[in-house]
Amino acid sequence: MKSRRPTKFYTPFHPLYDMSWLSLYSFYLIFCFFSLLSGIQTDDLQILMQLKSSLLETSNTSAFISWETNKSMCNFTGITCNSDGFVTEIKLSYQNLTGVLPLDSICHLQSLEKLSFQSNYLHCPIMDHLNNCVNLQFLDLSNNNFTGCLVPANMSSLSKLQYLYLNKSGFSGTFPWKSLQNMTGLVHLSLGDNLFNPFSFPKEVLKLTNLTWLNLSNCGIQGTIPAEIGNLKELINLELYLNNLTGEIPIEIGNLLNLSWLDLSDNSFTGKLPAGLRNLTKLEKFDASRNYLEGDLFELRFLNNLVSLQLSDNKLSGHVPAELGKFKKLEILSVSRNSFTGPLPQKLGSWAEFYIIDVSKNFFTGPIPPDMCKQGTMRYLLMLQNNLTGEIPASYANCSTLRFFKVNNNSLSGIVPAGIWGLPNVYIIDIALNYIEGPIASDIKNAKSLAQLFASNNRLSGELPAEISEATSLDSIQLNDNELSVMTSKALLLKHSMPSKMKKKKKKKKDTSRDAKQNNKVISVKIDK
Ligand SMILES: *[C@@H]1O[C@H](CO)[C@@H](O)[C@H](O)[C@H]1NC(C)=O
Ligand SMILES: *[C@@H]1O[C@H](CO)[C@@H](O)[C@H](O)[C@H]1NC(C)=O
Ligand SMILES: *[C@@H]1O[C@H](CO)[C@@H](O)[C@H](O)[C@H]1NC(C)=O
Ligand SMILES: *[C@@H]1O[C@H](CO)[C@@H](O)[C@H](O)[C@H]1NC(C)=O
Ligand SMILES: *[C@@H]1O[C@H](CO)[C@@H](O)[C@H](O)[C@H]1NC(C)=O
Ligand SMILES: *[C@@H]1O[C@H](CO)[C@@H](O)[C@H](O)[C@H]1NC(C)=O
Ligand SMILES: *[C@@H]1O[C@H](CO)[C@@H](O)[C@H](O)[C@H]1NC(C)=O
Ligand SMILES: *[C@@H]1O[C@H](CO)[C@@H](O)[C@H](O)[C@H]1NC(C)=O
Ligand SMILES: *[C@@H]1O[C@H](CO)[C@@H](O)[C@H](O)[C@H]1NC(C)=O
Ligand SMILES: *[C@@H]1O[C@H](CO)[C@@H](O)[C@H](O)[C@H]1NC(C)=O
Ligand SMILES: *[C@@H]1O[C@H](CO)[C@@H](O)[C@H](O)[C@H]1NC(C)=O
Ligand SMILES: *[C@@H]1O[C@H](CO)[C@@H](O)[C@H](O)[C@H]1NC(C)=O
Repeated sequence: MKSRRPTKFYTPFHPLYDMSWLSLYSFYLIFCFFSLLSGIQTDDLQILMQLKSSLLETSNTSAFISWETNKSMCNFTGITCNSDGFVTEIKLSYQNLTGVLPLDSICHLQSLEKLSFQSNYLHCPIMDHLNNCVNLQFLDLSNNNFTGCLVPANMSSLSKLQYLYLNKSGFSGTFPWKSLQNMTGLVHLSLGDNLFNPFSFPKEVLKLTNLTWLNLSNCGIQGTIPAEIGNLKELINLELYLNNLTGEIPIEIGNLLNLSWLDLSDNSFTGKLPAGLRNLTKLEKFDASRNYLEGDLFELRFLNNLVSLQLSDNKLSGHVPAELGKFKKLEILSVSRNSFTGPLPQKLGSWAEFYIIDVSKNFFTGPIPPDMCKQGTMRYLLMLQNNLTGEIPASYANCSTLRFFKVNNNSLSGIVPAGIWGLPNVYIIDIALNYIEGPIASDIKNAKSLAQLFASNNRLSGELPAEISEATSLDSIQLNDNELSVMTSKALLLKHSMPSKMKKKKKKKKDTSRDAKQNNKVISVKIDK
């Protein structure tokens, strides 16, 4: 199906050497005349039918069901025409298209401005003819299967492009950065998640001052971010995660006053959060997790539009600024595995639909903020390995959305509010290695999702409630080194019909004085079902 008659575009206006050309040419004129009369853009239709036949051969798709010659092509699924009836847009995203995109013919659509084949299984070869699509303003080939394909060596004729998405498509080789010199009107540029050869931050990108969205994540960038990043003042989204970027986050980032989403995670940035970050007051999502950043969070105090703040796995220190407790939109706070000290703001997470806090593995002190489930959306409460004190706030006994509750290895005391034992969606409760007292409440019968209960090395007392047998998802329990009565352990064994494994386990605890007490040594039970 590769036969293609010359389109108007390609009509040879050569001198007519012989009669066969002459007759062909007259035929063509007549043909054009009738085409005009009928008002049908025959060329465009023919190109679309070629597209259909070449992809239909290789794809299991319903995309082309409406593509019948007895219908107007402007009514085909995915096709948009202009008022003159020429095709301006082909949008066939998520259509299970497999095979090779016939760009050689598609690029002959003279009015084509928008091409989207996002999320299909298109493969090599690809782009040799892309340079003919000179009127394209929008090109989306993201999320395809061009695995092992080199990117086209030269795309500089696509000078009208405003939106270019080639992310997550399996491209390899070297991207033709020079071609971007001609794409001065680019608004979105997304090249992330490809296997490009390692490259340093492309200077051509730094001249694209109309960019609002730049995604160069996970595509092999090395070295530092140049100061000229500050030229891209229109940027709203800047995604550079999962590269090998080094050096400090440039202070010029503070010029990008429109930034709403900044993702620098999984790189090798060093130094402090740059002065000037405080000016990015439109910032909603900031992620710099898994770098080597140090210093405090002072610069973040004014970013009160933050919805998500993620800084895990760095070398950050100091207090979490009190201002974070007043951020009205905050839904996610993740600062685990740093060296933070001091107490957490007590109003933290109480304003918006807060659902993740992860402050694990720091040196936080003071009480657990009580209102993080105020809006009833909390799912992950991860505060393990700090030195938090006080009781587990009673408010969490009503937090039915809570799924992970891990406060182990702190200095918490008091009793566990009864409702917590019975939270309907909680999957793991880990309060081990604290100074928690009192009984395990019979509420546990309501904990239908509870799979893992770790409470060893505390001061729990009394008997295990018989109702624990109604927590039907439980498959792992550790209660050793408490003051539970021995009867308890027997009850547990009976209720859970002969667990196959029982192991004694005694962890070292910071407070050795309790070893003197008469602690239950039984124990950890792994229930095989
Ligand atoms: C084609 O897709 C349909 C569902 O859309 C599926 O039922 C069928 O098995 C597929 N055929 C092949 C050959 O993959
Ligand atoms: C793509 O394939 C999936 C699974 O086979 C099917 O459910 C879906 O309907 C297909 N989509 C199209 C547009 O053919
Ligand atoms: C168009 O053609 C297809 C198959 O060629 C046929 O199934 C359909 O009924 C036709 N539709 C109309 C409106 O003629
Ligand atoms: C597209 O289809 C609708 C009915 O589904 C019809 O009214 C309309 O005229 C068609 N448009 C063209 C350009 O054929
Ligand atoms: C491609 O990049 C754009 C912009 O960064 C993003 O919105 C889109 O989700 C990405 N697509 C895939 C498949 O990752
Ligand atoms: C992607 O292409 C490779 C060969 O290039 C093929 O082996 C693989 O099955 C394709 N994957 C999908 C999901 O089509
Ligand atoms: C790309 O092609 C154009 C002509 O279409 C040419 O002027 C330019 O030098 C080429 N660029 C590269 C880097 O090959
Ligand atoms: C760059 O774009 C201009 C129009 O904006 C065009 O005339 C020129 O040919 C393009 N350069 C290349 C190498 O295609
Ligand atoms: C950049 O955007 C402005 C405002 O939208 C527009 O006037 C200008 O033409 C754009 N620049 C280019 C090179 O397209
Ligand atoms: C990052 O770059 C350094 C040196 O430039 C290199 O040793 C290291 O392997 C790179 N890491 C990754 C994940 O590419
Ligand atoms: C923040 O913005 C203000 C006002 O635009 C400016 O004076 C100040 O220098 C900026 N701060 C930093 C650290 O860049
Ligand atoms: C934890 O805090 C308590 C009370 O403030 C203090 O006595 C204890 O030394 C701290 N423990 C650690 C390991 O810092």
